[in-house]
Amino acid sequence: MAVRTILEFPDLRLRIRAQPVTRFDAALAALIDDLLETMYAAPGIGLAATQIDVHRRVLVIDISEERNQPLALVNPEILAREGEASSEEGCLSVPGIFDEVKRAEKIRVRWQSRTGEVSERDYDGTLAVCIQHEMDHLDGKLFVDYLSDLKRERIRKKLVKERRERASRPSAAAGQARRAY
Ligand code: NI
Repeated sequence: MAVRTILEFPDLRLRIRAQPVTRFDAALAALIDDLLETMYAAPGIGLAATQIDVHRRVLVIDISEERNQPLALVNPEILAREGEASSEEGCLSVPGIFDEVKRAEKIRVRWQSRTGEVSERDYDGTLAVCIQHEMDHLDGKLFVDYLSDLKRERIRKKLVKERRERASRPSAAAGQARRAY
């Protein structure tokens, strides 16, 4: 297992659409383990393969306080959406930025496990938000895409500036990533 580098907005590799997983082999298991280790190290509550520059439809989530309930979804699909809810989101690829995003309140999801086993389940609350956020990553979409062009451009400039400052002052704090995914 290894902690991988997380791509940051506006890196264009975050815009690549991920391809379905077709082989449920040791390489997939290693990818899932790396995603989990990278997510826990960040620390964050979710991470999509796209964010570590692997363009396969795989995401991991753990919203538990104890950090001991990892979920790994391979080839996730949303079968049904219900309602609408707005909540504050953050993203490990857009560090330090939090804003309100409107999404479906409840979703029915089908996915495969690391061994290819198919599951189907309804989700609501934080897990529903998190799954929709991570699935956007697999389609090359970021939560800042839901904000106004003006706001997104302001965020882009802020991050580019902060990255430049971080490069000259490597000890600068990364900020509150606990709620980011
Ligand atoms: Ni994210």
